[in-house]
Amino acid sequence: MASTQNRPRLFWFSGTGNSLFVARELARLLEAEVLEPVTETPSGTARDASRIGIVFPVYCFGLPRCVATFLTRVPLNSDAYVFTVATMALLPGAAHRQAERILEARGAALAAGWSLRMPDNFSPVPASFLQRAAGRVEAKTLARLEGIAEHVRQAHRLPAEGSGAPLRGMGDWLHRRMLPRMAHWDRGFRVDASCTGCGLCERICPVGNILLDDGKPVWQGSCEACYACMQWCPVDAVHCRGLLGNRLHYRNPHVRAEELFVRLPGEEDASLRTPDPAAGHPSPDRPMPAR
Ligand SMILES: Cc1cc2nc3c(=O)[nH]c(=O)nc-3n(C[C@H](O)[C@H](O)[C@H](O)COP(=O)(O)O)c2cc1C
Ligand code: SF4
Ligand code: SF4
Repeated sequence: MASTQNRPRLFWFSGTGNSLFVARELARLLEAEVLEPVTETPSGTARDASRIGIVFPVYCFGLPRCVATFLTRVPLNSDAYVFTVATMALLPGAAHRQAERILEARGAALAAGWSLRMPDNFSPVPASFLQRAAGRVEAKTLARLEGIAEHVRQAHRLPAEGSGAPLRGMGDWLHRRMLPRMAHWDRGFRVDASCTGCGLCERICPVGNILLDDGKPVWQGSCEACYACMQWCPVDAVHCRGLLGNRLHYRNPHVRAEELFVRLPGEEDASLRTPDPAAGHPSPDRPMPAR
């Protein structure tokens, strides 16, 4: 068993559960000491850690906004072995390179970065197709985790797994253009009459960007584009305009909605707004609808 001092500290960000699933599996293999959600106001738990891992999804060929902010602010020792694990549908783009740049600007370094394929939570493909492919994709990723854990145990320094140079450069450029727009991604969401006012969307939003007003969600214009509000709504009342419309439906089957709840600053109890089945709220863990 690893000594407490040497146990890695793992942080995660996840909208539909893939990255939490991977982070949990990695934590089990590594006997990680802390498994903590990424927030824009990181605690000091990483300060004295010798190994720090961050698991997150790739968004538009780069880092989610809150992960970039977290990397900029998290208190850490510049000698620490810092590694990133990106879950993605197909193309990691410049995600690890961006993490590397942020760390280098702080006098630290990225020791290694792995890109793991997981089911796509974004493309406008029918849920039935995603469900068929999901098992295969996930099994391949699980098979890689033991090897990754061994690299972390041995503190191997490895080149990060990004896209090839031309695609990485293009991805970096595209991501820079998309990032400021992503905060307003929530302008595309709307809620229909089937909303029961259960509050799950408000509770699951990782950055507190949804407030219920008269029992209906109101988006506040500071979105991460994680799609959790739409994907986890128990009655599919949240819809998205445009190409992605109503068609994408994916939630990682090994993760429960409640496990994604992030306690935001000022919140005393993470279960405060948990939907209550006894009060007639539908279960957030219903099966995915086949489209
Ligand atoms: C807004 C958005 C942008 C995405 N961009 C990419 C991308 O550039 N490359 C890719 O391979 N996957 C992309 N994806 C897919 C996710 O990275 C992938 O499904 C991930 O595993 C989801 O993780 P989560 O379940 O932890 O949220 C994107 C997903 C979203 C929601
Ligand atoms: S999760 Fe769905 S049903 Fe519950 S408040 Fe939000 S939109 Fe309404
Ligand atoms: S508003 Fe919806 S898509 Fe945006 S960060 Fe919150 S849960 Fe994610």
